[in-house]
Amino acid sequence: MAQQMKLTLSVIKADVGSVAGHNRPHPDLLKRAEECLAAAKAKRLLLDFCVSRCGDDINLIMTHSHGVSHEPIHRLAWDTFMECTRVAKSLKLYGAGQDLLVDAFSGNVKGMGPGVAEMELIERPSEPVVILMADKTSPGAWNLPLYKIFADAFNTPGLVIDPKMHEGFIFSVLDVKKKAVITLACPEEQYDLLMFLGAHGRYMVREIRRKEDNEIAAVASTDVLSEIAGKYVGKDDPVCIIRAQAGMPAVGEILEPFAFPHLVEGWMRGSHQGPLMPVAFHQANPTRFDGPPRVIAAGFQLNQGTLIGPIDLFDDPAYDEARRQANTAADYLRRHGPFEPHRLPLDEMEYTTMPMIMSKLRDRFKSVG
Ligand code: 13P
Ligand code: 13P
Ligand code: MG
Ligand code: MG
Repeated sequence: MAQQMKLTLSVIKADVGSVAGHNRPHPDLLKRAEECLAAAKAKRLLLDFCVSRCGDDINLIMTHSHGVSHEPIHRLAWDTFMECTRVAKSLKLYGAGQDLLVDAFSGNVKGMGPGVAEMELIERPSEPVVILMADKTSPGAWNLPLYKIFADAFNTPGLVIDPKMHEGFIFSVLDVKKKAVITLACPEEQYDLLMFLGAHGRYMVREIRRKEDNEIAAVASTDVLSEIAGKYVGKDDPVCIIRAQAGMPAVGEILEPFAFPHLVEGWMRGSHQGPLMPVAFHQANPTRFDGPPRVIAAGFQLNQGTLIGPIDLFDDPAYDEARRQANTAADYLRRHGPFEPHRLPLDEMEYTTMPMIMSKLRDRFKSVG
């Protein structure tokens, strides 16, 4: 039966160069990415694809039947980003090849720089999905909205009303420092879960499953570039895939948390706290202090692997107030200049000039103890 076909939805993203600093990719990069993926579709490696971008990040949204971490799919994404890097270099774009951290592809783009969110699913009779894409922030930005969507009945009445959701959801949380994962079930372990999710610089939601049948509900990219490279190479600018409706949160329940522009890490030089502003596709151009951080939401219906969409879900005056609040919060935070907590604490800052300053001034500290 067609509906029983196992389908994989892969979103692989990277920043490989942009126009006027970290603002947006040149149209020639997006065109090149389209050509590469169209060729892969013609060869039937892909069922379908959509090239999207948020700020300076290119998102390759791909459907296929090969499962997650499939080498030819990862190679396709890597080669596509290499091709785009070549275009970026020829145009002398800023940060050409920024997120490609190794010289040669070796099997899986994870750990090589690009961000990855993939899920394998059996298409339901109707399969709506929402793909969230952010710029100038890190995967910890998804913690608060994912908690609200999948564990807070004041956001998601479906947790109370929908019998398939009533048992709750199971969160897999990554400790990026220890590179270890813990799974916690909601509602019964929600206070334990919140202890971790609140520390969003270190603990990040990686995957969410429905408790009743272990069905995959959401996956996020949790590739932390600074941890991978050991030094600053740009923010991680995460993506997240969420299935919607009919036993999953409704599209409106998925979007609702973004009516509150919560504070996330990133913004200028990846070193500040700023409000996450939900915007229409054409507004995903971070300019004020290289921000504030942006999130876009693309809605699709899957039809045996065909991507029907994207629908620009934050292109709605209902999100004007969130954008206005984000601007108010941005004004307030900016007045702190280089002071914490607007600027991140030293150990979390992506640019660490402190060791250099310390080595210069060390001898001038006089003990008073
Ligand atoms: P419909 O009655 O339009 O299907 O909507 C149901 C729903 O889940 C709205 O959130
Ligand atoms: P990106 O991570 O989006 O490239 O931004 C880097 C930066 O330093 C912005 O000020
Ligand atoms: Mg950039
Ligand atoms: Mg970016």
